[in-house]
Amino acid sequence: MIVIKGLCKRFGTKIVLDGADLEIPAGKTTVVIGGSGTGKSVLLKCILGLLKPEAGSILIEGEDVTKMDERELVSVRRKFGMLFQGAALFDSMTVGDNVAFALRRLRLYPEKQILDLVEEKLAMVGLRNVSHLMPAELSGGMKKRVGLARAIAAEPEILLYDEPTTGLDPIMADVINDLIVALRESLGVTGIAITHDMASAYKIADRIAMLYKGKIISVGTPDEIRHSDSPIVSQFVEGRAKGPITAEHEDFVRFVRRQGEPNGPEAN
Ligand SMILES: Nc1ncnc2c1ncn2[C@@H]1O[C@H](COP(=O)(O)OP(=O)(O)O)[C@@H](O)[C@H]1O
Ligand SMILES: [Mg+2]
Repeated sequence: MIVIKGLCKRFGTKIVLDGADLEIPAGKTTVVIGGSGTGKSVLLKCILGLLKPEAGSILIEGEDVTKMDERELVSVRRKFGMLFQGAALFDSMTVGDNVAFALRRLRLYPEKQILDLVEEKLAMVGLRNVSHLMPAELSGGMKKRVGLARAIAAEPEILLYDEPTTGLDPIMADVINDLIVALRESLGVTGIAITHDMASAYKIADRIAMLYKGKIISVGTPDEIRHSDSPIVSQFVEGRAKGPITAEHEDFVRFVRRQGEPNGPEAN
C-alpha cells in the first residue's frame, strides 16, 4: 500500500530522518515505535505531504507523494483519516459538527444523510446521544473516541494514529486499542500508528517497526519484536534505563549520582 525508501528529512543542521525504509501492507496495522523526538510525527507528516523530505520516495498505491504539487496532494489526502495526538477537536464546534467536518467539506452527501452518518460513526466508537455536546464537556477518552469517529467519517482507506493512547489512563487506553483493532477488522483499513506505548503497540499491531537515529532498524511481528536480539530494540521494548540507547547519557547519570557523595563534584 505504501512503500517508503531512503527517506531523509532535516531541519537546519538537525538530521531527523536519515534514509528510512518501510513497507506498509494493505489491510493491516503497522506500528512505528521509537523514543520521543526520534521523528515519528515527522514521518507521518511526510506521508501526508505536509513536510517535504530532502531525499527518498513515498509511494502510495504507486504514486510518489514527495513529487506531488499541492493540488495532487489534496486528492491523495482524501485516502487518509487521521487521529491526531490529543484528539485535536475543534473546540468551538459540537461533537456532531466535528465528526461531520470532512463530509461537509467534501460535499459527498446531502445534509440529512450526513447527520445519519455522524450518528453511525459515533455508534461505531461506542458513543450515543453526544452529537449536541461541546468538546469541553467530554472526558479525555471520549474526546479520543470522537476524534476516531471524525477520522473514519469519510471512509478513508488508510488511518493514521499519532500516539493514540498518550495521556489516557490504562483502562481508557485499552478501550481505544480495542476500537483500533475493531475498526481494522470491520472496515479492513490500512493502519499506521506511531507510539512509544508498548502495551498499545503489542495490542494493535500486525507489524512493528522501530525508528532509531533516523532509520527503521527493525521490523517484525509483535512477537518477533518482543523477543528481538537487537540490544537497541530490546532496551526500548522493555523500557530499561540502561543500554545502548542511553549510553551517551550515562556520564550525566554518573555525575548526578556523585552529587550525593561526600567527595562528589560539588565538593571539589
Ligand atoms: N517543523 C519543525 N521544525 C524544526 N524542527 C522540527 C519540526 N518538526 C519536528 N522537528 C524536530 O524533529 C525531531 C523529531 O520530532 P517529532 O517527529 O515530533 O518526534 P516524535 O518522534 O516525538 O514524534 C525533534 O527534534 C523536533 O524538534
Ligand atoms: Mg510525535
